[in-house]
Amino acid sequence: MKDLASALTAANAAVFTSLGLDAKHADVRRSDRPDLGEFQANGALAVAKAAGKKPHEIAQSVAAGWSATDLAPTPTIAGPGFLNFKVTPQALNKRAQAIADDVHAGASPVEKKRRVVVDYGGPNVAKGMHVGHLRASIIGESIKRIYRFRGDEVWGDAHFGDWGFQMGLVITALEDELGGFDDRAKLDARLQSLTLDQLEAIYPTYAAKVRDGDIETRDRARKATAALQGGSALHREIWKVMHDVSMSAQKRDFHALGVDFDLWLGESDADPLIPNMVKDLEKQGLLEDDQGARIVRVAGPGETKKKKLDDGTVVEVESPDPLLVVSSEGSAMYGTTDLATILQRVRDQNPDLILYTVDQRQADHFEQVYRAAAKANYIARDKLEHVGFGTMNGPDGKPFKTRAGGVLKLQDLIGQAEEKARLRLKENEIGADFSAEEFEDVAHKVAIAALKFADLSNYRGTSYVFDLDRFMSFEGKTGPYLLYQAVRIKSILRRAEGEGAKPGSIQIEHDAERALALALDAFDGALKAAYDKKAPHFLAEHAYTLAQAFSGFYANCAIMQSEGATRASRLALAGATLNQLTLTLDLLGIEVPERM
Ligand code: ARG
Repeated sequence: MKDLASALTAANAAVFTSLGLDAKHADVRRSDRPDLGEFQANGALAVAKAAGKKPHEIAQSVAAGWSATDLAPTPTIAGPGFLNFKVTPQALNKRAQAIADDVHAGASPVEKKRRVVVDYGGPNVAKGMHVGHLRASIIGESIKRIYRFRGDEVWGDAHFGDWGFQMGLVITALEDELGGFDDRAKLDARLQSLTLDQLEAIYPTYAAKVRDGDIETRDRARKATAALQGGSALHREIWKVMHDVSMSAQKRDFHALGVDFDLWLGESDADPLIPNMVKDLEKQGLLEDDQGARIVRVAGPGETKKKKLDDGTVVEVESPDPLLVVSSEGSAMYGTTDLATILQRVRDQNPDLILYTVDQRQADHFEQVYRAAAKANYIARDKLEHVGFGTMNGPDGKPFKTRAGGVLKLQDLIGQAEEKARLRLKENEIGADFSAEEFEDVAHKVAIAALKFADLSNYRGTSYVFDLDRFMSFEGKTGPYLLYQAVRIKSILRRAEGEGAKPGSIQIEHDAERALALALDAFDGALKAAYDKKAPHFLAEHAYTLAQAFSGFYANCAIMQSEGATRASRLALAGATLNQLTLTLDLLGIEVPERM
């Protein structure tokens, strides 16, 4: 089912073609000046030059060539040659009815289904999930849902960071703690009592040691990493415990956040593919020795950047940097597992597209990996896309830290948000009559809605400031406001049903109804934009516009105080709004409670 802008574009394109004008400039869009017209087309300006005419003349001939139809009367002309369109009441009624009758609320499916892997979340073993993983999880989850909803076959993969240097580092720390691994009984007892909290305390301490120049610890950790990857039974056994302890805690955090993966795979799962991959890269002549390490060069001819050496001299070096495939200790690196994971995904999912929802600051890494993968003919370059995002910042404008300067754990963040949600519910006198269980459930949903909507309402590339008070407000562009609006419609419909009032065919009369129907019509456009640009904020924006249009409708158009066909039409409009709003929020990963 076409939305109104697409239907108008098709009709306008026919007029353009009949006048010998290039139809690709016939686009009709929602107007940003609704006082002039609901839809507008600017193409007369673009084709004027080629046609050797003034834009105004072109606009006049398009308007003259436009025969008034059921869809729209003849457009009017504004300014130098803008065409303004208004759809007929019949067209709007028909479209609103179709949306009301459609389980997909007026959304169109993709033209060609694709197989898509969404790589997101990306937590690391031995490091708890913190706010840094929040954006990756929230944005990736939404993109996964958007792609799936439009008809693609989609796999979400957590891609655990479980095979790198941090593993060797934590194993080394454990070795120090136990004074070696010789006492088997002691090791077993320690492994049995190991918790994620302990791992999370060990990791930063040892990471700091290495950062501060403890070369001996660094080298031991590197050796431990190489032993683990090389198949040492002892190292793998220790690794397995750390892996499982981390994973179960992380599953719990993801679950609380309403984030779910189809594949719980990690870097380590690509390990079995690495030996053959290295051989293959070698056979293809792509592997080069570099001071004991093995690299793949990915810069094209003439691609260089300036680099400042330690002694201050500036030299010209290739850019992007080569991909490090085998370290001088013989270990697989971050890029190695990413390259092997591409082979794994090609083998197991055969994807048309792999989307990596990962912090913008890793852009160079992905560019290296993607180029190497294309160079080795593992996958076409255009099937790989880094969907980067900015940081969530503290009030100082730097990536968010706790007051003590540490990273805030995801679990604690969710706890804080829930605490605030309980407070806000009480302030707004919501839930006094709920059971304790329902109150907690609503508080949790409000908390998650606040965190997710605050994140997703910004373009993903933009960094934003963490401000729980603002996120949790029941007014303005927030998650709680939208939940409240959706729940309000639910209660209106429940009351109507209780009184035996039934929805009927949609007849738009009032301006506020017209505005609501136009808002409903805009869903498909927002969905397509979110899909094409991998940018959920288009849907967040839509949810807000729709909720506001509903408010305007509700304030101006009595529902239960009206009668007959008018009441039935308004109930149908309210039902369509609830369905579309719930769906839009679900695509953002936000769940609406029954009442609040
Ligand atoms: N574990 C990584 C990190 O915390 C993110 C993983 C992203 N995905 C990937 N395929 N590299 O930085």
